[in-house]
Amino acid sequence: MQTLIFLLIAGISSLTHAQAPSDEARHKLVGLIADVRGADGRRYGSRDHLGNTMDCVKIIKRTDSEQFIGVYHTYINEVPRVNLAISDDLINWTWLRELAYFGSQPTIAVPSDQPQGYIVVWEQEPKNHLRFAFYPTWSDLEAGISRKNYSVPRTISPFAEGTPSIYGQPTVNNIDLGFHYYDKRIVDKQARGTLKNFGLWTQFRKQPNFDNALLHYGVQGNIGDRDTITNFDNYEFTAIEGQYGRKDFGTWRTFIFDPQTGNADQVPVITDGGSQAFANPTMTLTTWKGQQILIVTLFVPSELSAPGEAGELIYYRKL
Ligand SMILES: *[C@@H]1O[C@H](CO)[C@@H](O)[C@H](O)[C@H]1NC(C)=O
Ligand SMILES: *[C@@H]1O[C@H](CO)[C@@H](O)[C@H](O)[C@H]1NC(C)=O
Repeated sequence: MQTLIFLLIAGISSLTHAQAPSDEARHKLVGLIADVRGADGRRYGSRDHLGNTMDCVKIIKRTDSEQFIGVYHTYINEVPRVNLAISDDLINWTWLRELAYFGSQPTIAVPSDQPQGYIVVWEQEPKNHLRFAFYPTWSDLEAGISRKNYSVPRTISPFAEGTPSIYGQPTVNNIDLGFHYYDKRIVDKQARGTLKNFGLWTQFRKQPNFDNALLHYGVQGNIGDRDTITNFDNYEFTAIEGQYGRKDFGTWRTFIFDPQTGNADQVPVITDGGSQAFANPTMTLTTWKGQQILIVTLFVPSELSAPGEAGELIYYRKL
């Protein structure tokens, strides 16, 4: 009997220790995101030069210069606005313009077929939904004039669909989008859809297996905003927020979902002051002055935050 139990335990333990090819890369990524104090640059409570909070910023590099672009939202008089800013160093941000009124949670990408242009997607009110815009050049973006735009009618949730993120490499006429939907007016869950030709919203679907990777940890609140990098040591990974307790902002945590295995790891983020909750993760892999860097942004809710750390955290690591 004892031998049998031992064999059973040994069997289970060897199963759980089976190595997946992506394990090493995922563990490395989790370690880099966790270690805020080891970053090559970081800023807590980020604001642009006008003092606007840079909530939920997504950062990419300009294709025509060494500057960085940030899109984020700022609440002023309870109205969220999507803002655009630029930076030479990822720390100091110069506000350029407002891109959307009653808009929030923006993301931005360069389409592979029009590398001078920019796709921006955000959450638009009223009737909380996804909105897309395409700016053919940097000067169009700077001027806030989109050549194409599309508001997506809600398809999965009759209540709300938001926090867009772009999967993989988009083209202007094919954008693979991740978003959350408000499930039965209880919690946010994962969904994915494709915008074709800036006029056809298609292949929209729930992502229950993605939810399951976080439900496994006992997450009972929202499973919401996410962001994907496609080639970290040859593997794709998605950073995603999971909220352990419904309506409890102090329980937001960051996870790395591994589509190669279908599982997620929780990221034990350690800041200078020891803040506990982190929402709206973004990741960007790019180069800066010839060096590969990983840019990470996290929103630190005031609940369970250390002094001076609430608001948007931006950090980067040379790879
Ligand atoms: C940030 O920009 C301001 C001007 O807007 C400048 O005075 C300051 O030195 C800059 N800080 C850094 C760290 O570059
Ligand atoms: C939306 O796109 C149209 C062209 O299809 C353009 O005329 C209009 O200015 C755009 N709207 C905004 C707010 O950028």
